[in-house]
Order: sequence, then structure tokens, then C-alpha cells
Amino acid sequence: MKHLISLHDLTQDEILEILTLALKLKKEQKEGVLHPVLRGKTLGMIFTKSSTRTRVSFEVGMSQLGGQALFLSANDIQLGRGETIYDTAKVLSRYLDGIMIRTFDHNDVLDLAKYGSIPIINGLTDLLHPCQVLADLQTVWEHKGKLQGLKMAFLGDGNNVAHSLLYGCAKVGMDITIGSPKGYTCNEEIVAGAKEDAKESGAVITITEDPVEAIKDADVVYTDTWCSMGQEKEKAERVKIFGAYQVNSRLFAHAKEDAIFMHCLPAYRGFEMTEDIIDGAHSVVFDEAENRLHAQKAVMALLMK
Ligand code: CP
Ligand code: NVA
Repeated sequence: MKHLISLHDLTQDEILEILTLALKLKKEQKEGVLHPVLRGKTLGMIFTKSSTRTRVSFEVGMSQLGGQALFLSANDIQLGRGETIYDTAKVLSRYLDGIMIRTFDHNDVLDLAKYGSIPIINGLTDLLHPCQVLADLQTVWEHKGKLQGLKMAFLGDGNNVAHSLLYGCAKVGMDITIGSPKGYTCNEEIVAGAKEDAKESGAVITITEDPVEAIKDADVVYTDTWCSMGQEKEKAERVKIFGAYQVNSRLFAHAKEDAIFMHCLPAYRGFEMTEDIIDGAHSVVFDEAENRLHAQKAVMALLMK
């Protein structure tokens, strides 16, 4: 593993190695055991989109690993004024030990990895959000004691988070059903790639427009905003289209009785889910947010040591 750009690039063993280390680092951190394995190392964090969890968890994670993180807003570095990804990758590779980037175009992340000589971590693109899904898998593992053989249901927009969930579940052998309205389902190439991965793990991948079929007997119910960063102008239209996919008590009743509710956050109560669901007894959204820290520390420790 040289970079973390897509979970599709990792083997099942590599994903399980990250999760196992994440659980160990979490336990150590809670017990006050220090683990400064990246002492003297620096992570650059390029952001061309907003963030609360990703920014804070990477920065805190790096500091807990004994290194430091540099916040590089695209508005403030020359990339935002037209310096090329090629030059940026070459220059930053001379200073840093790793780069985490959150941006729009997935190709920019691939180019950073291609032209740079240090590990690149994808902190979200329009296409994928692999760090989120590592934390999600860790959370499912903690709450359900296993990954293989469970069913996850993702309701709503077939977006970056849905894409990474497809890959993540397919790799670890968790069945996943995506329930999205026509025209808003997942990218066909990603679905095909996940189906390839699923052949090895035995996971079942299902894409449907029927929200009830999607959520039926699910162990894990997941949703995300109907309007991702960059789609703000489509909000009014999307709210009309996605109504039937709202995770509310009526829809949630079709999941297993002990199903957990997950959301990558930020969440918009009254839209993709109702308040009683996200703030209710089945919700594990804050464990999930916390696990961003532990899962990413594992990724950085493995890539940057
Ligand atoms: N889930 C997630 O990536 O949150 P932020 O946008 O706050 O980083
Ligand atoms: N799908 C959302 C995820 C935010 C963490 C977005 O891209 O805005």
C-alpha cells in the first residue's frame, strides 16, 4: 500500500490490517498509552472544500502520532491561482512526508500520486471518500462484532460516500444495497468494480430504486446528504426527488430490529433522515465520527512510517 486513494486498490487483508491497527491505536489512546510512531514527520492537508471532521481528525491524529500537520487551504496556496498539480506535487514532495487532499476532481488526486514521491491520502473527492468508509467499517465491527455476512443499506444519493461504501463492503464481504432514485444512482464503473471485488469476498451488491427493498432486513442503515458539496444550486430540485428515501421511523421499521443507523455527517435533520432516527437509540453517528481519528491514524502510521 503506497497511497490511500480508493478502497478498490486495497486487498481485503490490507483493509483488515488498517482496521486492526485502528482498534489497537484507539485502545492505547483511551488508556493514555502514547504511540509517537511518526515523530518528526509532517502531513500536508490540501483543502479545496470545507471540512470539520477530516481536518480536525487528521490534524489531531498526526499530533497524537508525534508528527505535525499543515493546513493548506487551496485559496492560500498557489494551486488556487493556477500552479499545476505537477509542480505542486514535485515541490511538496521535497518538504512533506505525506499529503492528504480533499478536492472536487478525482483526477487531481491521481495526478498528485503520479507526479509526487510521497504517500497521498484521499480526504474526499466528487467520486470517493475512502477514509470515511474505513472509519465506518471500524464502527460496524465494534457494534456488530463482525463485517462478513451483514447487510448494509444505503438510502439516498449514489454519491462519493455510497461509492466508497460499495468498494468497502465488497472487499470485506458485507452485502450492500443502494436505494436511490432514477438518475441519482451510483456510477456504473464503480458498481462494476465493486461487483468484481464482491466475487472474491462473496458479498452481494444490489442497486434498486425501491427504498423499502433496499432497507429490508438491513443490519446497518446508512444515509448521507442529498446535496453534496458543489451541488448547492440543485438543492431545491433534489429535495423534491429524494423525499421517498428519507430514513424515518416508517422506513427504518423494515430494517432488522437491532439495526444501527450511520451517517458520515454533516447531517441535515428533516431531509435525509428525521431527528428521531439520528438522535435515537439506533444511531452510532458520533462513534463513527470519532473513528475517523483512529482509522486515519492507522492509515498514516502504515503509509508514512
Ligand atoms: N464526514 C466528513 O468527511 O466530514 P467533514 O466534511 O466535516 O470532513
Ligand atoms: N457526500 C458529502 C459528504 C460530506 C462528508 C459531500 O461530498 O458533500
